[in-house]
Amino acid sequence: MKRFEKADTIRQYLHTFRTESTIGFVPTMGALHEGHLALIETARRENDVVVSSIFVNPVQFNNPDDLARYPRTLEEDCQKLEAAGCDVVFAPSVDEMYPTPPTLHLNFGSLETVMEGAFRPGHFNGVGIVVAKLFNIVQPDRAYFGQKDLQQVGVIRQLIRDLSFPVELIRCPIIRETDGLAMSSRNRNLTAAEREQAPALFQALTLAHDCLLDEQSVTQTKAVVTDFFNEKPEFRLEYIDIVNANTLQPTDYVLAPGQTAICLAAHLGKVRLIDNLVF
Ligand code: PAJ
Repeated sequence: MKRFEKADTIRQYLHTFRTESTIGFVPTMGALHEGHLALIETARRENDVVVSSIFVNPVQFNNPDDLARYPRTLEEDCQKLEAAGCDVVFAPSVDEMYPTPPTLHLNFGSLETVMEGAFRPGHFNGVGIVVAKLFNIVQPDRAYFGQKDLQQVGVIRQLIRDLSFPVELIRCPIIRETDGLAMSSRNRNLTAAEREQAPALFQALTLAHDCLLDEQSVTQTKAVVTDFFNEKPEFRLEYIDIVNANTLQPTDYVLAPGQTAICLAAHLGKVRLIDNLVF
């Protein structure tokens, strides 16, 4: 596996492959787990060359403590990437990506007035800027993103359309622990006791799914989930929303199969967790 820290060098290296090979790209912030590796494996099956990036992007963190606490495990990550079949990794420094702080502002309209957009102001601007830069550096044919961050998938879809990136976006399923907890780099920051409580997020999604299938209204369903967390004082529910899985806009009723998403965010101790279920 080749490793690069400089944008110019990786761009030049990939240039030789561009005409005859397809490049699959998996952007990450490191602290890799099986969710990330599943993206690499899918990219491996569908492309000649697999490129991944590891960059904890300061511009997308709206909470300085969250940025400071974000786990950094570069050497271990590179070993995992190589074992999963990655060919090239780009792990730039903050100075390499941002010689000066970016002044550009991206506005994703209605996509950023809901859920993660509403609770993490500026977050999607930072995601959009870094992904646009990475697309320009790597110039992939396909880019792989996890449904774990469903709203991020919507933002990237919009970014690709609005800026005409010649990139095919592939959304990959959520990989979970056996107890249902969605894998996340932030799970490493949970205490042992919190880790035992954390599957309640997935239980809440399942509960909401059952309510909707049972023809309870969206309002009733949200109330059931709110009550569920009210009985668990260790959690602070931030939102539970039933939305269109593509537009991320709230819906009052269940849509066609695969089009409805139940999304939630909750704080457990110092860790903020998100999860969703698309059906
Ligand atoms: P990060 O949180 O490291 O996630 C990298 C990719 O892995 C994202 O597409 C995310 O949705 C996916 N992923 C995370 N957990 C997953 C799981 N349990 N199952 C499936 N996929 C999962 O998302 C980011 O980094 C950043 O915002 C980034 C796009 C790299 C821009 O900085």
